[in-house]
Amino acid sequence: MKLKISTVLLALVLNTYISRAGEGMWLPLLLSQLNEKEMHDIGMRITAEDIYSINHSSLKDAIVLFGGGCTGELVSDQGLLLTNHHCGYSSIQRHSSLDHDYLTNGFWAQRQEEELPNAGLSVTFLVSMADVSMEVLKGVNDKMNQKTRDSIIQANSKVLVKEAIKGTHYTAQVKPFFGGNQYYLFVSETFTDVRLVGAPPSNIGKFGGDTDNWMWPRHTGDFSMFRIYAGKDNKPAEYSKNNVPYHPAKHLTISLKGIQEGDFTFVYGFPGTTQEYLPSYAVDMTALQRNPIAIGLRQQRLDIIDRAMESDRLMRIQYSAKAAGIANTWKKMIGESRGIKRMDGIEKKQDFEKNFQLWTQSNSGYSEKYGQLLPAFSKTYNDYAPIGIAYTYVTEGLFGIELVRFAYGYNNLVKQCNDKSKSDADIRKLIGQLRISADAFHKNYNRNVDMQLFGAMMSTYSLSCETTMQVPLVKMKSAEYKGNISKWDDELFNKTLFADSLKLNAFLAGFNRKDVKKIEKDPAYLLASAIYAYLQNSLSPKITAFYSTTDSLQRLYMAAQMEMQAGKRFYPDANSTLRIAYGKVMSYQPADAVGYNWFTTLDGIMQKENPDIYDYVVEPRLKALYNLRDYGRYADADQSMHVAFIASNHTTGGNSGSPVLNADGQLVGINFDRCWEGTMSDLMYDPDQCRNISLDIRYCLFIVDKMAGAKRLIEEMTIVQ
Ligand code: ARG
Ligand code: GLU
Repeated sequence: MKLKISTVLLALVLNTYISRAGEGMWLPLLLSQLNEKEMHDIGMRITAEDIYSINHSSLKDAIVLFGGGCTGELVSDQGLLLTNHHCGYSSIQRHSSLDHDYLTNGFWAQRQEEELPNAGLSVTFLVSMADVSMEVLKGVNDKMNQKTRDSIIQANSKVLVKEAIKGTHYTAQVKPFFGGNQYYLFVSETFTDVRLVGAPPSNIGKFGGDTDNWMWPRHTGDFSMFRIYAGKDNKPAEYSKNNVPYHPAKHLTISLKGIQEGDFTFVYGFPGTTQEYLPSYAVDMTALQRNPIAIGLRQQRLDIIDRAMESDRLMRIQYSAKAAGIANTWKKMIGESRGIKRMDGIEKKQDFEKNFQLWTQSNSGYSEKYGQLLPAFSKTYNDYAPIGIAYTYVTEGLFGIELVRFAYGYNNLVKQCNDKSKSDADIRKLIGQLRISADAFHKNYNRNVDMQLFGAMMSTYSLSCETTMQVPLVKMKSAEYKGNISKWDDELFNKTLFADSLKLNAFLAGFNRKDVKKIEKDPAYLLASAIYAYLQNSLSPKITAFYSTTDSLQRLYMAAQMEMQAGKRFYPDANSTLRIAYGKVMSYQPADAVGYNWFTTLDGIMQKENPDIYDYVVEPRLKALYNLRDYGRYADADQSMHVAFIASNHTTGGNSGSPVLNADGQLVGINFDRCWEGTMSDLMYDPDQCRNISLDIRYCLFIVDKMAGAKRLIEEMTIVQ
């Protein structure tokens, strides 16, 4: 036995020195300590200090969290910003109508005065970050329960945040890392006047649509442009006509030199969520149990919505953003589950766990602290499985009915009307807000489509979700309609106030406090309330308990993994904080006998052209330029127009719109996706299959310059040949 353990340990130690090129989302603050040497070894020519510095301006001052879920980068001293088309999509969509169909035709402001404001859109810069683990964990010990621990951490964090923003217009946040073993403080600056400057037509910005989404070879011109406006003092200001373009401390230099296979690149942005250090039970739950259910439900919704969009132009505008969102996660889940199976991900985790268990037995300190971890994980995940599945059926199924989510939005009104302490003026104010959101909802709503969604989701839910774990009202209705629950749609959609904008508007216009009874009796409101009540009373307590247990287990497990592999360089899971991923431009082999090149070209767009398929219609103006081969200075040395490229940078959702920089820190691409075979990298990274997909910056500028003729924008950028 002794011998066996030491062999295992030796193997583990050796393993830590084998570098897995590309894996990791690193903290800018720790770059010089952990990564700079390796980055130089594989080609970087700038320093860690050029990338992140709190003493002088650095590349970080040109990067923003865009709209909460994407990344953007500044490309001029006038606050001009680049991000993806799919990140600007909802803004572009909100400005679109049948008359001004910017989604279809594209949009280019000819002058700054024509740039379009976007209520609710903001961008956030990171001002500084600091390791505050000591301060946050002060007063915490291993004996206390999770709740006490959390409250101490919260109190400590509050003090730090208050101190950090004193006398400034900044905001600050303390975030946990490595499952709560470390904490960092982030100070940020947020701008709320962000205007739409330009977007290509969808047949460029979304070329290939959901068919090509998550896939390589890819030809999507996935970019859009915005501009940050500030007050005259260059500080954040609410939207005003008098605001002026923001002058950033740094904007990126754009390189037209292009890239070669093997070149060093890095991605600087705000990755959202990864979970790299979970036990096998958790990966099994996601990849093998819950993804398949969600995939099936999303498939049903997409079939309905896609059919509607094919049949009608207005419905295409109304449902395009919603369909893109549903399809995006649907396809990601398919890729993720396949990827985990293909790399034997669960078996790999199990092998690791066997070694882990042996390691805990190698010393009594370890066995006392960590010996029971894996059995505890196993029991917790097993017990939770049916609840997790029932929850998935609610969120992916019942919430897929648009009316359910919309009607529930009136819950607050019901509460306020029944609350004597609320004045009529309070209620009038709320009605005003509800009318605005009702208009926004109905602008993009089709009752017929939603009735079909209702039928499909209800049927699958009542057939497939374990009966003892169904919403009681749904179970009752299913019995009433003798199992054919989709027949309930007539009663529900005809009687409800919420499915018809005229009816609802009239009701809200004449609303008076006692009308709340009508809402309380509304069948859609009743259904929504029943679903939420079931969630809140039956599922939520169990879900909360599960997360509380797994959070503490995971924190310990993380600490144990770091202790066991003391020589290994660990990167923290993504949590929407600023990170650097670096790697090389690289081709890959997605399947036996299939090799994928590392770049695509405009010729490939012409090969995919199909006027009969919406996703593959080629923009006539683009075709004209192609026919003349009129690429100007944006052509590659090989004379072709490069469109996209892949590299081994470890990225995830939230990295959309992130700048892809070369060895000199110049902008060469805009990250927008990952290859399908590698989408399991949120759980496990496979260096053979994981590639990020970037738009070649030269294609982006070619569209702006040659096709849109937006010379004024090209002129404000810093471009090197
Ligand atoms: N897969 C990319 C991401 O996760 C692009 C999504 C938008 N595009 C689309 N066709 N739905 O955000
Ligand atoms: N398209 C993703 C986003 O919106 C990036 C792709 C990924 O998940 O890597 O952030």
